[in-house]
Amino acid sequence: MSQPHVAIVGATGAVGIEMLRCLERRNFPVGKLTLLASARSAGKKLTFRGEEHTIQELTPDSFAGVNIALFSAGGGISRDFAPHAVQAGAVVVDNSSAFRMDDTVPLVVPEINAADAKNHRGIIANPNCSTAIALMALYPLHQAFGVKRVFASTYQAVSGTGAQAIEELAAQSRAWASEARAWDDAKLSTPPQVYPHQIAFNALPHVDSFMDSGYTKEEMKMENEGRKIMHHPAFKASVTCVRVPVFRSHSIAISAEFEKPITAARSPLISPAATTVPLAASGKIVPWTTGSPSGWSVTSSSKAPPSTRSRSPSCWCKWENGSPRMARMRLIFADIEGILDSPKR
Ligand SMILES: NC(=O)c1ccc[n+]([C@@H]2O[C@H](COP(=O)([O-])OP(=O)(O)OC[C@H]3O[C@@H](n4cnc5c(N)ncnc54)[C@H](OP(=O)(O)O)[C@@H]3O)[C@@H](O)[C@H]2O)c1
Repeated sequence: MSQPHVAIVGATGAVGIEMLRCLERRNFPVGKLTLLASARSAGKKLTFRGEEHTIQELTPDSFAGVNIALFSAGGGISRDFAPHAVQAGAVVVDNSSAFRMDDTVPLVVPEINAADAKNHRGIIANPNCSTAIALMALYPLHQAFGVKRVFASTYQAVSGTGAQAIEELAAQSRAWASEARAWDDAKLSTPPQVYPHQIAFNALPHVDSFMDSGYTKEEMKMENEGRKIMHHPAFKASVTCVRVPVFRSHSIAISAEFEKPITAARSPLISPAATTVPLAASGKIVPWTTGSPSGWSVTSSSKAPPSTRSRSPSCWCKWENGSPRMARMRLIFADIEGILDSPKR
């Protein structure tokens, strides 16, 4: 199929808009484009390659002639409407968590398990954002050394919650500035709408709902989805997810333990033989969230002795697959003795 008919469900959302830009940037050979959202957005217009496209209300009949349907309007919408798209003959790529752990649905990071996508029955799931970007760096190390478990902390941008959350951070920041408050009086009187607490100048260790175990659902995704994507049922991940007042770009710090001793010299992340992770020239390149060049970059200052715990290389990436607005990652492998005995796992 050289010129597929592509539909975006949730085209007006924070993710949907980035999907559109991504199709443009990558020169994806879109034959026809259908933009779908709620009744609230029907009739509004979005521009794609210089042409205006009118947004239509999503209905069960929206998918006639569609070849590829990109879903990003929440799990409920995916559960209700993806079957209609499949019925109409489309292949659905779903950005929500609705089908990720369904045994009949491949959960794919193309650089890791692209072959799984071939076994789809109409729906292919896209992983959780933090999971996908963490695995992109972890998987080459796993192939070389066999990852046993990781301890990770995320610093998740408000873009991950959607367009309203981005606006909430902007509005709260504006309110604080306009009230000319002192730096140590950052608490606002305006009630939060999207988050349970003020997000501006705050860090909320609460992403998604809590489970009986004390973890949140978001925190379990790296283990559950990581096992499926890496075909590694014994993989363990103890993750603390924190929402931070950053507009876009998640960061993650990971400590990882491996079966085999690893050395910086043998690490695929910092080896010149790396195929998926080109080396940065050298020097003290560190990741940051508000500006960065594109492509993978890796730095290492390590002359580490052999260890089964990863040590010292840090890398960041700009990543366009899956969830493009979660575009950058910082991965720090630090050899922190004792952390592996954390009571969380
Ligand atoms: N896999 C990942 O890495 C990742 C990352 C972030 C988000 N996500 C998932 O992506 C999805 C969208 O996130 P977002 O941040 O883009 O959210 P968002 O900014 O709030 O956008 C939501 C989109 O869904 C549409 N929508 C809402 N209700 C609808 C309905 N009844 N019928 C049709 N369309 C409807 C909205 O249309 P209107 O504008 O008309 O309301 C809008 O286009 C969520 O499932 C989220 O969990 C996945």
